[in-house]
Amino acid sequence: MIQLSNINKIFNPGTVNEVKALTNINLEVNNGDFVTIIGTNGSGKTTLLNLITGSFFPDTGIISIDGKNVTREKDYKRARYISRVFQNPYSGSAPKMTIAENLLIAYTRNGHRNPVISLTSKLRNYFREQVAMLEMQLEDRLDNVVGMLSGGQRQAVTLLMAVLKSPKVLLLDEHTAALDPKSAAQVISLTKRMIEEKNLTAIMITHSMQQALDLGNRTLMLYKGEIIDDISANEKRRLTVDDLLGKFSDLRKREKLTEDVLTKLKSEYI
Ligand SMILES: Nc1ncnc2c1ncn2[C@@H]1O[C@H](COP(=O)(O)OP(=O)(O)OP(=O)(O)O)[C@@H](O)[C@H]1O
Ligand SMILES: [Mg+2]
Repeated sequence: MIQLSNINKIFNPGTVNEVKALTNINLEVNNGDFVTIIGTNGSGKTTLLNLITGSFFPDTGIISIDGKNVTREKDYKRARYISRVFQNPYSGSAPKMTIAENLLIAYTRNGHRNPVISLTSKLRNYFREQVAMLEMQLEDRLDNVVGMLSGGQRQAVTLLMAVLKSPKVLLLDEHTAALDPKSAAQVISLTKRMIEEKNLTAIMITHSMQQALDLGNRTLMLYKGEIIDDISANEKRRLTVDDLLGKFSDLRKREKLTEDVLTKLKSEYI
């Protein structure tokens, strides 16, 4: 469903602020894959999603989605078939509009031929059913403005908006990181259920190693702009959080060693 070939992205090249955000990324995500991504701060996780959505373009390489080369396709066009949920629960919905109105926007997105359709009673019933599935006691509050909801409820509505029209690709960028533990757990189980029920292809960035192991059929580890591990469903079942932490600290140790060796070499020979 998603294919990234030889992707490189450098920010501010040739300046003191140069950052090699992604280096030689090759990745194939199959239809129906649910991929979790972990990696240290600044390892390029969000940049990877930004390239998939077309927020900016890669310096080199090709991005294909569902067999089509979209490397230079604008983000608003890709938004018809890619949905994204961000960390901030206040960013994915319009606070002064009601739950029903927000859902109507999501419903008429995705290249709908006639975007100005009204909220018919049939559609309203459909939204009610969908909102009931969130199990957040919101089904009788369709006419409440979204700004009145709690962070967890609002992120659940945002998630529903994101999957309402079954996008080809669902991208989640630490979408529960700003929620309290109870709401986060609720939104995570909702995420799992929606992805399974709609058989979506999804990529979820998380800072929780446990979540990364528990969810999805594949986990990628990013480190300094590179994919350093691609863990299969079978391997995930066997791994513990300690094993994952071990993989990261091994990398750091190896790097430290190289740095020390280099410093020593430099002091002795240069
Ligand atoms: N638009 C931009 N302009 C300049 N530098 C950027 C831009 N976006 C990201 N970067 C840099 O690229 C690197 C990767 O950033 P990215 O946001 O992808 O990391 P991340 O893995 O998502 O980190 P975090 O876990 O903190 O969210 C960082 O050094 C960041 O400062
Ligand atoms: Mg990020």
